[in-house]
Amino acid sequence: MTDTAMANPCETATPNRLNPPRVRSPKLVQGVQFAFFRRKAMRNWTKRHGHIFEVNVPFFGQSVVVSDPALVRTVCTASAEELVNIQPNLGNLFGPGSVFGFDGTRHRDRRRLLTPAFHGPILKNFEKVIQDETLRESANWPEGQEFRTLEPMNRITLNVILRTIFGADGPELEELREIVPPFMKIAQPLAFVPAPPFWTRRYSPWRKLDDFRKAFDRIVSTLIAHAAADPGLSERADILAFLLRGRRDDKTAMPRRDLIDELLTLVCAGHETTASALAWTFERLRRHPKVLAELMREVDEGGSALRRATIFESLRVRSVVDVFGRRVSSPNFDLGEWRIPDDRTVLVRISDLHENPQIFPHPEQFDPYRFCGAKGTKPAAPAWLAFGGGARRCIGADFTIAEMDIVLRTVLQNFRIQTDAAADEKSYFRGVAHIPKLGGRVIVNRRK
Ligand code: HEM
Repeated sequence: MTDTAMANPCETATPNRLNPPRVRSPKLVQGVQFAFFRRKAMRNWTKRHGHIFEVNVPFFGQSVVVSDPALVRTVCTASAEELVNIQPNLGNLFGPGSVFGFDGTRHRDRRRLLTPAFHGPILKNFEKVIQDETLRESANWPEGQEFRTLEPMNRITLNVILRTIFGADGPELEELREIVPPFMKIAQPLAFVPAPPFWTRRYSPWRKLDDFRKAFDRIVSTLIAHAAADPGLSERADILAFLLRGRRDDKTAMPRRDLIDELLTLVCAGHETTASALAWTFERLRRHPKVLAELMREVDEGGSALRRATIFESLRVRSVVDVFGRRVSSPNFDLGEWRIPDDRTVLVRISDLHENPQIFPHPEQFDPYRFCGAKGTKPAAPAWLAFGGGARRCIGADFTIAEMDIVLRTVLQNFRIQTDAAADEKSYFRGVAHIPKLGGRVIVNRRK
């Protein structure tokens, strides 16, 4: 085969291998639709072209968007050599030592250090922290008055992740509580925007990110120094202690610079997404009196199966993260009957998978019972992919489910949520997470 043929597989490569259908509108139009009306545009493109198509969008360039379950399985099970990290990625925001920016063996090694921190016995230690934070935050909820749940949920999940990572509360956590929310607000829309050259940064929104970063590094360096000097480090249950004790394959500790980037990663990735998922759950429950009544009955009887099913269903029907991506790093990557050329971005569209009527009958309906029953409550990949899939699947997935479960349980034990026929809240895209546009409003009354 000639070089030209290699470079243009659509025309002359292996028979039966084609490029996916391409969105034909001008690049600028595609870009604007992707940036500002992403869900609607994706839905329209899927309607027109099917569950695999190609778009040309800002920052990611030529990108294949896929939501056919069999093809998504191929993406999730591809080797780390064939499909590498998407560019740009959240490493932009969290620094070069963040797991979000890594690839290959470096990525595998880092995950080996991080993943155990969010599983099993370590998770168990934080049940009480989550319950305490929920009780503290909800102590002054107004009765009989509509309010947004998103901000209270954000405060709960931020406090939980800070205490989970750093352990005991103190003045440093107080400072972090002050500086992280404004950072998240500015950072999310810039998450995938390439940073401008250093000398122009102080005239752009990146200046605020740089100021935040200086403050974060200072505070976290103090916390690391305290932890490293703690004679009780080996008994501590927090994630910082776990990471300080952890050793890589070559028996060395994670470099200090990487540790700070990673702690920022976990603080930021680990709270607003969960808060948005909780706000969506309240938004759904307000409109589903039967499910809510069953959940109340279950909580009073000490059960949890329907509550967990409700969490899975809420994450299905209102995906907080809509898309995850990879980049082809092989001369040709075969995706079903399609051939995807080197260096192309592949975007998996989670919400379209979750709306597939062949897998989820009446997908628009909020029906937690679809995750109850003989097979247990755990939904299966690749049909349900709220946390992504394969080698880069979300590290905090189990932590999130456990946290949502305890927050919901605590709220249901203490409050009655009023139900009504309010119109569904629309989705608003913050740059990474999709949130309920009105903040997941509810009216509650305290249970006697
Ligand atoms: C509702 C809550 C959450 C959702 C919907 C969510 C979703 C996701 C998704 C879709 C990915 C990309 C997966 C992929 O590329 O295959 C991801 C990655 C990641 N998430 Fe989450 N996440 C949530 C909560 C959390 C929490 C609580 C933490 C940590 C405490 C966390 C830490 C991470 C990290 C570190 C990665 C990068 C993994 C890697 O690149 O190897 N996330 N998450």
